[in-house]
Amino acid sequence: MRSRFAVRIGPLAHLLERKEWYVCSALQSTKHTTLSHYERQKARKDEEALSLKIPLVDLQAQYSGLKPAILAALEAVLDSMQLFLGPQIRAFEHNFAAYCQCQYGIGVSSGTDALAIALRACDIGPGDEVITVANTFIATVEAIALVGAKPVFVDVDPETYLLDWRQLEQALSSRTRAVLPVHLYGHAAEMLPIMNFARAHGLHVIEDASQAHGATYQGRRVGSFGDVGCFSLYYSKNLGAFGEAGICTTNDEALAEKIRMIRDHGSRIRYRHEVMGVNARLDEMQAAVLNVKMPHLDQWNTARQAHAQAYTEQLRDVVEAVPVVRPWGTHVYCYYVIQVTERDALREALQQEGIGTNIHYPTPIHLQPACASYGYTDGMLPVTESVSQHIVSLPMYPELTAEQIHYVVSAVKKYSLLQRRVRSYDTGREAQWV
Ligand SMILES: Cc1ncc(COP(=O)(O)O)c(C=O)c1O
Repeated sequence: MRSRFAVRIGPLAHLLERKEWYVCSALQSTKHTTLSHYERQKARKDEEALSLKIPLVDLQAQYSGLKPAILAALEAVLDSMQLFLGPQIRAFEHNFAAYCQCQYGIGVSSGTDALAIALRACDIGPGDEVITVANTFIATVEAIALVGAKPVFVDVDPETYLLDWRQLEQALSSRTRAVLPVHLYGHAAEMLPIMNFARAHGLHVIEDASQAHGATYQGRRVGSFGDVGCFSLYYSKNLGAFGEAGICTTNDEALAEKIRMIRDHGSRIRYRHEVMGVNARLDEMQAAVLNVKMPHLDQWNTARQAHAQAYTEQLRDVVEAVPVVRPWGTHVYCYYVIQVTERDALREALQQEGIGTNIHYPTPIHLQPACASYGYTDGMLPVTESVSQHIVSLPMYPELTAEQIHYVVSAVKKYSLLQRRVRSYDTGREAQWV
């Protein structure tokens, strides 16, 4: 078995298997004390060059293309010293809301705040239940808990990994106040039956669109279906700031007003506080970055879709499952998620080739220690639990090149070929793999 150190150093690990590596590293550790500053810098650079060849997300690639525009925008904000609730936020809120086919956009400090404030604005609180999924990032559920409500989980569709609306009825109780679908990985949840169910039962719908900026359902952008659409603008999302940021979108003027008030200490007029709010404003520096990036979003999403198509065409017959795209929606591939039986072994093999991967997400939320008090146990959401054992996300960002995709595909194929050979050897049959 490989040591944990070998896994951590990834591409260097093959050296570890050779005895000379031990000698080499032993020499290095004694040498480091006598190396000049220049030599130490060079050694560090060499090590970095050997680190991941293709990361899961490459933020440098995007930044280098936009650097002059971003620096100019940041400088303009600093020169003006108007650092919050100024022209940058107003412009971003207006443009992003219009992009989502909504009338109002309210910039907030994170996707988590967007969700919690949206729930609060809909008067959801202690004693209330919100139906959602466990195949998501913790923030979806955290927001429900933050307002004092209880999450009630339904399972996901085994192909899209998204909320299975057929299960909503059985999750309904007299305390249910809202449904919170998540457009996970960049694919729109099936909004028509979700909206019909919510309307039939007088429920609010809060969309978690944190991974789906620009995705559509029946031609309409996500974030425009429910009472409020909530987006994270965390730096690695399809549209990301340079730190923490988020936005709520809505077509309901009263809700927009309430969200705007809650995010700014419950205030509409300075030092007059109508409700207990929070400090969750989007700041001008982040908004300035977002204003530079916003015009590129569609083109970036198109690039992601092209990369996904290339991956899918080449991996369809190699792995257990590639992402599906339902005819009613578009996918903007915040993550490109495949399924394989021996997920951890594949991840390690790709790591050895210098390819970054991740799991979104390894433990379903209903089984997290933080959710113990809700009483969910293993086996209660079988699809979610099964999916979490096999999913793995491959590198995905707009600037990926055809060569990089080819490199990732070849590494996955190489691993699969090896696995098939091992399996066919184990069963005493000759592999029929080409
Ligand atoms: C599905 C989902 N919901 C909510 C969030 C929370 O967003 P933030 O990190 O901006 O608070 C994220 C962020 O990763 C997310 O992926």
